[in-house]
Amino acid sequence: MTDKYAVIGNPIKHSKSPQIHAVFAEQTGQDIEYGRILGDMEDFYGDVRDFVETGGKGLNVTVPFKERAWQLVNERSEQAKHAGAVNTIIVLENRRLRGDNTDGVGLVRDLVHNHGFDLEGKRILLIGAGGASRGILLPLLEKSPQEVVIANRTESKAVDLAELFAEHGCVTGVGLDHVHAEAFDLIINGTSAGLSGKVPAISAGCLKPGGWTYDMMYSDEPTAFVRWGLEQGASKALDGLGMLVEQAAESFFLWRGVRPETAPVIRMLRP
Ligand code: ATR
Repeated sequence: MTDKYAVIGNPIKHSKSPQIHAVFAEQTGQDIEYGRILGDMEDFYGDVRDFVETGGKGLNVTVPFKERAWQLVNERSEQAKHAGAVNTIIVLENRRLRGDNTDGVGLVRDLVHNHGFDLEGKRILLIGAGGASRGILLPLLEKSPQEVVIANRTESKAVDLAELFAEHGCVTGVGLDHVHAEAFDLIINGTSAGLSGKVPAISAGCLKPGGWTYDMMYSDEPTAFVRWGLEQGASKALDGLGMLVEQAAESFFLWRGVRPETAPVIRMLRP
């Protein structure tokens, strides 16, 4: 019987997940269908319940429901516990729900496997202290960078977030205006500034010559942060397309126990 999966979010129309998972299923010969659900802002739990009661096997959860999904699930992976958000729900045998978070693993796989960036011993600047940044911190720190500096417009949120992960590595939180010409090997944008075409106000000269930049957002045109990275002389200024496909692959693996190939899917989606 065909197993049923879906992505739930609001809005959801532009989600690429159904297209990505359809290719994964074809590639691996898995008998699944994968739909999209426009989640009810007032009744997310009801939507999940309906999906599970009609035989759904797993969900991807996207904006703005990841925190609610975290609350809802019966058990959580270590990743999900630390991320404070769930982007993957696995429906277990007895209809219990397990929550995981594959965003951070997706970002790290994209950097390390797809692009060959070795995170060990590197100095990383992570801009933003919201859910997107929190979701990637554990997998990043597990790669033993020398230091992760979280810089946020609202300094206290950066300090709090750094504190939350202090036992996992060298991580500090500062205000955006306190980042001055320090030599970072990698600058990651985890803010939502790009939604309005903006770049966080960060001083020029923070990137080491030959350093890389990574925007967790993705759009068909180069994002404002990708353009900023290139202006800073980044040797690579990546956007979040690879992360999007890698987090999907990780969810697929959690559900089906098979790892799909991501490179052809990234190529297919790149305009
Ligand atoms: P998400 O869950 O997507 O991370 P969020 O929790 O609302 O969303 O967090 C958005 C992040 O983007 C925050 O770090 C926010 O900074 P503040 O904490 O100071 O609000 C950051 N952000 C949004 N717009 C920004 C802008 N124009 N410049 C700098 N940072 C911005």
